[in-house]
Amino acid sequence: MSERAQFVTKMGVIAASVGSAVGLGNIWRFPYEAGMHGGGAFICIYLLCVFLLGIPVIIAEFVIGRATHKNANSAINLLAPGSKFRYVSYIGIISSVMILSFYSVVAGWIIEYLFQSIIGNLNGHSPEDYSNIFNSLVGSPWRSVLWTILFLGINFLILRKGIQKGIERISNLLMPILFLLLIIFCINSLLLPKAKEGLEFMFSPDFSQVSPSMIIGAMGQAFFSLSLGLTCLLTYASYFNDKTPLIKTATIIAILDTCVAILAGVIIFPAVFSFGAEPTAGPKLVFEILPSIFNQMPGGYLWSIALFTLLFFASITSTISMSEIFITFCTEEHNMSRKKATRLNTGIALVLGSLCALSFNVLSDIKVFDKTFFDLFDYVSSNILLPAGGFILAVFVGWVMNKNIVANQLTNNGTLNVRTMRPILFCIRYIAPLAIILIFLYVIGLFDSLAALLF
Ligand code: PHE
Repeated sequence: MSERAQFVTKMGVIAASVGSAVGLGNIWRFPYEAGMHGGGAFICIYLLCVFLLGIPVIIAEFVIGRATHKNANSAINLLAPGSKFRYVSYIGIISSVMILSFYSVVAGWIIEYLFQSIIGNLNGHSPEDYSNIFNSLVGSPWRSVLWTILFLGINFLILRKGIQKGIERISNLLMPILFLLLIIFCINSLLLPKAKEGLEFMFSPDFSQVSPSMIIGAMGQAFFSLSLGLTCLLTYASYFNDKTPLIKTATIIAILDTCVAILAGVIIFPAVFSFGAEPTAGPKLVFEILPSIFNQMPGGYLWSIALFTLLFFASITSTISMSEIFITFCTEEHNMSRKKATRLNTGIALVLGSLCALSFNVLSDIKVFDKTFFDLFDYVSSNILLPAGGFILAVFVGWVMNKNIVANQLTNNGTLNVRTMRPILFCIRYIAPLAIILIFLYVIGLFDSLAALLF
């Protein structure tokens, strides 16, 4: 077996992990989740989740991955032979496939919007028209399935040819440009007539809106956006070298990822209020709002091509990272060839992704737990499986793993003096697992039943 590669440069480590984290989760999912759950209060809880649960769980994944240089299953088996904790890798595999499926549908919409931008169809309409344009795209079974297939095809080719490193490099070059572009869009949005209302919606929290669905939504969004809980970052960390400072790297990833999400919010919400749209529009929010923004910017035609191109690259680095979980598992645990594993991964995603694409049209009446396939995959993976995976990984590092190994990982064998080690360990052992459990209990209504019993 060939020696597992290591990220040589510091930049490579951070860039690949940021490439996984920054994607449609920040720019598409964050604004719509925040919009659906009342804005400010959601964002406050989201930030708490990122810092109290997100960073500790990223570090937990890093510790396991770098301590062993193995995939999740073998890593846990090596650290605690025979431990049932290794089954967390199945949560990772199932959620990665579910996410890949619905994510590809949205990434397909991005390609269609890029295409429409290029042929000049996206400019010069009224805000209501943009709603119709989006509805006609998702309402058409063949169009939405075709774009999904196209996206999965590109993802497949990149994985198959083993050129993900190349794509990551291009994407690393493009990410700073994306950042810059988002800042320009932000300034533009802040100059819109109702910018103040948009900012108030985001930054003046109304805590009377706090509800179980908001809290689990915020936690799920934090896990989704940080690519957390499905052993994706664990797999990346298995390629880190001994000099990578884990706590610092985790913090940088979380901060960059959060900045992109907040920037996206600052772009979208002032525009939502200025163009008379509804913040609660759901998954279509960004697709209706962005074109209206391009429309009122000078040179909107080029801006829209640039943004959708960058969003495409941001999504492909994320889907590569989630596909790798499945592929690494099949090749390293089941001796499958990389070719076959890639084909299997894409095949499953094609079937499930088509179901998700069709759930906006011909299958829209088919509901499981009152959710369409698309919503169900999104909800189950982001809000349930990822936090559950994060819980298991935090408990493993906090309670099961040898404490010296953990400390050595956090301090790079004693060469780093990490003052934040104790608080981080405290979060990994207590705060993160407890908070995840309490949120689950809150959502299934346990506290209400308890209150009813007691009072
Ligand atoms: N974090 C990615 C995003 O924000 C999505 C993702 C989830 C990627 C899980 C990998 C694993 O778009």
